Amino acid sequence: MADKYEQVLELAKRRGFIWNSFELYGGTAGFYDYGPLGAMLKRRVENIWRDIFVINEGYYEIESPTIGIEDVFIASGHVGGFSDPLTECQKCNEAFRADHLVKDIMDNPDTLGADELTKVLNKNNIKCPECGGKLGNVYEFNLMFKTSIGPGGKRAGYLRPETAQGMFVDFQRLLKFYRDHLPFGATQIGKAYRNEISPRQGVIRLREFTQAEAEIFIDPRDKTHPKFAEVADIVLNLYSQEGQAEGSSEKMSINEAVKKGIIAHEFLAYCLAMTYRFLMRVGVSPDKLRFRQHMKDEMAHYAADCWDAEILSERFGWVEVVGIADRTDYDLKAHAKQSETELTVYVSYDTPKKIERFAVKPDMGILGPMFKGKAGKIANALKALKPEELSADAIELTIDGEQIKIEKNAVTFETVCEEVHGENIIPHVIEPSFGIDRIVYSLLEHSYSEEEAEEEGEEDKTRIVLRLPAEVAPVQAAVLPLLTREELIKPANEIVKMLRKTGILVSFDDSGTIGRRYRRNDEIGTPYSITVDYQTLDDGTVTIRDRDSMKQVRAGMSNIADNIHELIYNGKSFEDAGKKI
Ligand code: ATP
Ligand code: GLY
Repeated sequence: MADKYEQVLELAKRRGFIWNSFELYGGTAGFYDYGPLGAMLKRRVENIWRDIFVINEGYYEIESPTIGIEDVFIASGHVGGFSDPLTECQKCNEAFRADHLVKDIMDNPDTLGADELTKVLNKNNIKCPECGGKLGNVYEFNLMFKTSIGPGGKRAGYLRPETAQGMFVDFQRLLKFYRDHLPFGATQIGKAYRNEISPRQGVIRLREFTQAEAEIFIDPRDKTHPKFAEVADIVLNLYSQEGQAEGSSEKMSINEAVKKGIIAHEFLAYCLAMTYRFLMRVGVSPDKLRFRQHMKDEMAHYAADCWDAEILSERFGWVEVVGIADRTDYDLKAHAKQSETELTVYVSYDTPKKIERFAVKPDMGILGPMFKGKAGKIANALKALKPEELSADAIELTIDGEQIKIEKNAVTFETVCEEVHGENIIPHVIEPSFGIDRIVYSLLEHSYSEEEAEEEGEEDKTRIVLRLPAEVAPVQAAVLPLLTREELIKPANEIVKMLRKTGILVSFDDSGTIGRRYRRNDEIGTPYSITVDYQTLDDGTVTIRDRDSMKQVRAGMSNIADNIHELIYNGKSFEDAGKKI
């Protein structure tokens, strides 16, 4: 029997959600197209993400190039370290992730280096899973797609492996946009590229995929969140570092998790809560979701703490769909160093601080005439000296390779007490990073059901239903004239027009039995079907059928668009949409 993945993919291909890319030429692993329904489903998921992060949190969206120059990825650490361990079969040349080949033999193989993995492969006599051939030595394979910018291949570029770097590189501009105040955030929804070694997990592991990422710049001295109270009672299924050691996850309120120090701080916890709300709203099953904390030796090079939202898939087990990391000041520091630019924010103290400062005052009246053009450099060198160096009997400096002796009367120094109103700090960054494609697949799998159902006009007892939330379903309403007669088609077309005017994506379907048409819409997740029948001509009412319960109500035609809009977007209950029939 086909497993859930096969069932979902069969439906997805047949009804236009997801296809293999380049099918005409035989396809290639790691690339998928979204068909007409899939692209709309994905857009709706992205727009809900926008609603939460951009509209409600105020983290404006930006758009930066998908190709980055080399400096960016040297700074970010991707050129040096964004790699997976690769081994190739010496017989059939097939490539494999070495850590995946040993995952049944040991825990956390991704913490091993290439040489260690080679030893594990040899010691355990692991052979090529395809042909049984001998596997070669493991080496690190950089996952970035390299390209060159401009003719002649003089300037290296890379397809971005994450959208995040765009926000870091634009830090100074963003800081100005947000009028120099922390915290602020920027978001980006766009393509990311990773030359995955052996993408054998279908739609889960892609070489081109869409990320939705927020980079939230916060004051490192204050990791509380102003809206924490709003999410404090949300209960999450947490699979913490301790939990993993014991092999069990635990349901706990966000508040308790922060109080017990399981989630490091409020800001990170708030991001877990936002992630939970988003995943619930788009239709992930709550009982197939957990938040797993990265083990210490598993953390990305930039992260101090990281939690993955993982969803349970029948074929693939627990799959990471979102990574929520405290990236600290890693990226801003790295870009500051690479670009030789200060990337800081001036923060004012609530009350000014008194600090003692050692002040050196070179006497330019003496140094100027004595050293002429070199006097400025000498003054700066003097300012950098420590008290004990300045109190020595002779002050010796080396300026441009020349030894220079300074008379003591040419410089004075003292400790002064000053009032300081603020300081320049490097913000820390909290990053929720969503993989939209994995989320879209999860929704399809979690909402897919095959059930036995009897319904008027339909002989086939098995109905396939996508129980997608109405807000996410690609087609939101189907308009079905009961019979293909002009007098029914005319009002049906009017309804289509009214719905479209309200921004509802509607399909008109007049072919086949009504039962068959309901089934066609159930399997693509259309939440409401509106049927025009002869009673419509008498009293101006239509039937609305609810996809999940298959119940029907009769409702007026004149306000049908508002009615459907309320059902989809404002949580109106189906019972309130009309009179039961
Ligand atoms: P994995 O361990 O599964 O390779 P990752 O730890 O490399 O994932 P991140 O680097 O944290 O993933 O990327 C952030 C998000 O981007 C992930 O949560 C995931 O949803 C998505 N993502 C990463 N790699 C891929 C991929 N190859 N195909 C589809 N989505 C991906
Ligand atoms: N921006 C996090 C990641 O893609 O890994």
